[in-house]
Amino acid sequence: MSKRVRTAVFPAGGLGTRFLPATKVVPKEMLPLVDKPIIQYGVEEALASGIEHIIFITGRGKGAMEDHFDISYELDATLEKKGKKELLELSRKISSLARVSYVRQKEPLGLGHAVLCAKQLVGDEPFAVLLPDDVIDAPVPCIKQMIDVYEERGGSVLATMTIEGPAISAYGVLAGSQDAKNPRIYNCTGMVEKPKLEVAPSKQAIIGRYILTPRVFETLEKTTPGAGGEIQLTDGILALLEREKVFGFTFEGKRFDAGDKFGMLQATVEFALKRPEFGDKFRAYLKGLGL
Ligand code: UTP
Repeated sequence: MSKRVRTAVFPAGGLGTRFLPATKVVPKEMLPLVDKPIIQYGVEEALASGIEHIIFITGRGKGAMEDHFDISYELDATLEKKGKKELLELSRKISSLARVSYVRQKEPLGLGHAVLCAKQLVGDEPFAVLLPDDVIDAPVPCIKQMIDVYEERGGSVLATMTIEGPAISAYGVLAGSQDAKNPRIYNCTGMVEKPKLEVAPSKQAIIGRYILTPRVFETLEKTTPGAGGEIQLTDGILALLEREKVFGFTFEGKRFDAGDKFGMLQATVEFALKRPEFGDKFRAYLKGLGL
């Protein structure tokens, strides 16, 4: 019987250069999508999927993120004094969301290195990795869908989405064959980083959600810096593939790249339209623009 997935790792040690100048001082994980920092969407997804322990991999200048998931005595006291009950509840809820640990990645040496920083805290168990930039709107939380695949199949699981045409060249692309029993599952045989459309091995783009077995720590330890001088998670997973099964999984839902300016605009519009308090008002406003 395979072990349960109880821990989620959130790599947040990157510099967020795509979102400058906003991210010069503010960590990109703290940029608001409607009214919540993007990292909170990922944390809520993990908790709704049964995750019990959250590990943030942080770096320089990420203090705001730590404060966000901690108790804010001054804010809570002021809200209490002013009788703002609902806001007080909102503030308190964030700090009581989960058991949270932080590991500092001293230098941004790559996503693979960031994941490796969680080794001691994760231990010998399968774990989830969620890239906070990727915000996913799904009927069943994406990471829960993936945990279900892991529990059924027992190997690492990489989230993928189907991309038509040349846009595939912006992603890591899965090589492999569709599973005979479940068309959402791919039996992974390899991965190619940012291929041209003509040589892309499939239409399955890998996005920022993973279930990994602890063996990936062994392969990451042996991984030498690849593209951009960084230790790539992809290289660690490729080495894992030589020893274990790895699956691609086309999750049900829609993914937004909130670490990118255009992706954030798309996510803002779609998430705002869904809000009961002002969705209708916002829809009327957009219609009124007469685009
Ligand atoms: P990105 O490729 O989005 O890099 O990293 P970035 O530096 O954060 O952002 P840009 O591209 O400069 O705008 C993917 C994920 O890996 C984390 C990032 O925080 C992000 O969640 N990461 C990346 C680390 O934790 N450490 C690293 O050394 C590199």
